[in-house]
Amino acid sequence: MIPQHIAIIMDGNGRWARMRGKERSEGHIAGMDALRETVRNVAQVGVKYLTVYAFSTENWGRPQAEVDALMELICKGVEMESAELMKVGIKVVAIGDRSRFSDKVKASLEKIEQLTHAGENMTLVLALNYSSRSEITTAVRNLAQRVAQGEVRPEDIDEQMISSALYTSFMPDPDLIIRTSGECRLSNFLMWQASYSEFYFTPTLWPDFDKAELERALEVYSARDRRYGLVK
Ligand code: FPP
Repeated sequence: MIPQHIAIIMDGNGRWARMRGKERSEGHIAGMDALRETVRNVAQVGVKYLTVYAFSTENWGRPQAEVDALMELICKGVEMESAELMKVGIKVVAIGDRSRFSDKVKASLEKIEQLTHAGENMTLVLALNYSSRSEITTAVRNLAQRVAQGEVRPEDIDEQMISSALYTSFMPDPDLIIRTSGECRLSNFLMWQASYSEFYFTPTLWPDFDKAELERALEVYSARDRRYGLVK
């Protein structure tokens, strides 16, 4: 079984750099290369949605030079990859709170979304300034406002309505969540959406995540028995 939606926590860029005596930002550049390859490989196996955790709301707390390098990488990545993504039919969508980004980053994101909007092969979702708790908080606030305005009755609020109020309303929940670098936690990523996801943790650092690693993750996923709380 090929998952319809894979989500990835791309972790370990900093450690990859340190092991080589390089700056952390060089680890992120290597991480970008791994992302480019992974997008290609994931699209090739027929997955329809790939969500990557590229910048969390907590990442603003990193040294300013590293935050700047990541912002630069987002803009550069958009600039360099747009044409190729259009050519191969990959639509790019960014989720998260964009208000804190500079005008330059905001413009880059709007540009790549516009350029690739007709892509039908796969949707690449970039989680940027994203966290599950802030996503859920925003959704609750919006629903409360609709209740206050008399548009919605409290008893009408169901799981579907909450899912529809999240950034991810346009896609199915992730079937498989991959986290690299040996950490086994969700770190504020897709908490609502991960209710029935399968998890795959690998000690491999993100810059080293290659096609063979993806194939291994897909193999493990195929062998899992997804019961959704039911019996077979
Ligand atoms: C985690 O490694 C990675 C990040 C915080 C950034 C991920 C970014 C990329 C892979 C490239 C940029 C992608 C886009 C879409 C612009 P870490 O720094 O936490 O590593 P560590 O745990 O070893 O310190």
